Amino acid sequence: MDKLRIEGGRRLAGEVAVSGAKNAALPILAAALLTREAVRLAGVPRLRDVDTMLRLLRTLGARVEREADGAIRVEAAAVGSVEAPYELVRTMRASILVLGPLLARFGEARVSLPGGCAIGQRPVDQHIKGLQAMGAEIDIEHGYVVARAERLLGTRIVTDMVTVTGTENLMMAAALASGQTVIENAAREPEVLDLADALNAMGARVYGAGTDRIVIDGVESLHGADHVVMPDRIEAGTFLCSVAAAGGDVTLTGVRPNTLDATVDKLREAGMRIEAGADWMRARMDRRPSAVSVRTAPFPGFATDMQAQFMAVNAVAEGTAVITETIFENRFMHVLELQRLGADIDIDGHTAIVRGVTSLSGAAVMATDLRASAGLVVAALVAEGVTLVDRIYHLDRGYERMEHKLAALGAAIERIGS
Ligand code: UD1
Repeated sequence: MDKLRIEGGRRLAGEVAVSGAKNAALPILAAALLTREAVRLAGVPRLRDVDTMLRLLRTLGARVEREADGAIRVEAAAVGSVEAPYELVRTMRASILVLGPLLARFGEARVSLPGGCAIGQRPVDQHIKGLQAMGAEIDIEHGYVVARAERLLGTRIVTDMVTVTGTENLMMAAALASGQTVIENAAREPEVLDLADALNAMGARVYGAGTDRIVIDGVESLHGADHVVMPDRIEAGTFLCSVAAAGGDVTLTGVRPNTLDATVDKLREAGMRIEAGADWMRARMDRRPSAVSVRTAPFPGFATDMQAQFMAVNAVAEGTAVITETIFENRFMHVLELQRLGADIDIDGHTAIVRGVTSLSGAAVMATDLRASAGLVVAALVAEGVTLVDRIYHLDRGYERMEHKLAALGAAIERIGS
């Protein structure tokens, strides 16, 4: 199993290109199932989760190719199966995103229930409830969500909580439904908007994405399209946190700053100087960060996917921060590992109290989930001595060539096999 070996204490400097967003690429790849024509996507990052989605699309019978320029072409003309098997779904919960498209286009779908997850329960009841409201018959059989509907019918859906993939699944299903669907309490994440843009390029009629009320006028069929996946705001935020912790002067390119408002506000509060243009950001940090309290919330609030990285910044900050996690019930797994590096953190339910220390000391730590791993990398970049981050397959699920990108900025980081 690969590990990362990081020697902390190097200032970061230079330029780094941000990759396409994993959480936008996954739903848009699933959306390619809605049409028999080819969908061509540029900016799809090379990641383990993307590979899993491509494998799933092939399992269903779609033709999937990576073209010479890196773009992914999906042609789902001949789909021979409507089953997303447990072996794939259990490695990536976002596999549930094929449920809506399969049901809408083929009238049936069998998708394994994702099961448990390191960061919390993460049920998919809202996906199911919404599809039922659109007329689908849904049973749970042998661990699979089995859904049938001759033609989905547009309706008004109010989700019980803000769910990102839930909103996306329902939006995709509604694109081919008969009549109008309204999703209230919809997720406002930029990735939802990117999916809506891709669907509209395929001939769908989706309005209001990016707000909490999305209206979809169903159409008879969708056609092929070209789309460029939006930049990854969580990858960008992770680089910004790396600079906040380790210090430095780094310019991010190919980034969309207006998707990073909450992160930027908090980093400025921590003492970072940030300038931004339409597609770049420059971050400078020449001092120890000040502690900043954060409370996770759906977009445009502070992203739960940035919580672990901010925990790491606060671990070495001046002062005490209160970090409240409101989205997932068990998303503090990185705390025990950060404590191994010398962080002073107490957990009380959904809240972590982080008292900044003047220095962390390198140690062997274990990644427990995707963003927890990113938090450990941020901490390791500032820790004295060598940190070995084990189980980085979690990191590989969501970060493209992270060690190469950080090394190019001057970090002492390398991947080692065990
Ligand atoms: C997506 C992101 C993930 C991010 C999360 C929250 C993708 C592929 N993943 O995950 O990186 O951390 O949003 O921003 O885009 N819930 C239910 N029932 C449901 C659906 C959700 O109870 O049917 C709950 C969840 O358990 C959680 C909350 O709602 O407590 C939000 O989850 P959701 O937004 O659905 O997260 P994901 O879409 O899985």
